[in-house]
Amino acid sequence: MYAIIVHGGAGKLKDRSKEVKVSNGVRRAVLRGYDLLKNGSSSLDAVEQAVRVLEDDPSFNAGTGSVLTFDGKVEMDAAIMYGPTLKVGAIAGVDCIRNPIVLARKVMEETDHVLLEGEGARKFAKLMGFEDYNPVTEKRRKEWEEYKEKLLNGEYPTWPKIRELIREHPELLHGTVGAVAIDEKDSISAATSTGGVFLKLPGRVGDTPIPGAGTYATPYGGASSTGIGEGMMRTLLTKTVVDFIRMGLDAQTAAEAGINFINNTVKLSAGVIAIDNRGNIGFAYNTPYMIRAYIKEGMEEPVVAL
Ligand code: GLY
Repeated sequence: MYAIIVHGGAGKLKDRSKEVKVSNGVRRAVLRGYDLLKNGSSSLDAVEQAVRVLEDDPSFNAGTGSVLTFDGKVEMDAAIMYGPTLKVGAIAGVDCIRNPIVLARKVMEETDHVLLEGEGARKFAKLMGFEDYNPVTEKRRKEWEEYKEKLLNGEYPTWPKIRELIREHPELLHGTVGAVAIDEKDSISAATSTGGVFLKLPGRVGDTPIPGAGTYATPYGGASSTGIGEGMMRTLLTKTVVDFIRMGLDAQTAAEAGINFINNTVKLSAGVIAIDNRGNIGFAYNTPYMIRAYIKEGMEEPVVAL
């Protein structure tokens, strides 16, 4: 049984006209991954390529269209994990490449490390032949100016209150992207990519590239999360969900139990997608929406929902 689920972030849509764009985006991404699975490719290829489609779509907060830090720069994080071996590759704080998820896979396959960040990650990208690329879009630059002005005018709480700020304005999260897939050999992989959260302090790394926080896969299950990363880092949300699967829960019940854990503890905005090794798909979130799409072997069309 092969299957794939993708997410395009959890939060609130500021502008309802964005619904069509993000729905089309996750549909394209899930179908890209599904085509690969149908043709016998691995779950690792499927999640990498699905996330790549979302990184290239400026509607999402990953790759092109990543949100900006407090000082107006892009610092992208990404991770990819292969369940059968627990191998994982991740990058953090990268600003000058087009597809962070592809670089994360290079870290997994071409180094002995798990996570490269900043200048080191940039040098590694050059070594791997990645071309320089500016992921900042005009739209994100304008949003940054608007939000920063509000912040400086005291219309938003100041930095120590970032969690409250985002709790009140989940649209600031925009959309981290992620994918989890199982292939015909029952191997599960997970991948996640993000620009982080708007107006984050330079140097802040979120949950996305941290194995077990934003991205996790084992032979039992895989999960990818979205929301305020600090919440996922404090609860190890994706590992928690995959552990629930290992203890016998199906992916849907495990995802719901993971979000309940967040709600009962750190109480921060979060969403998670998951697949278990029986091919069940799951998702849960505590925000007004989480854009997502999934398709399983035998289905004609993906299910796309907000
Ligand atoms: N979940 C994305 C981040 O907090 O960076």
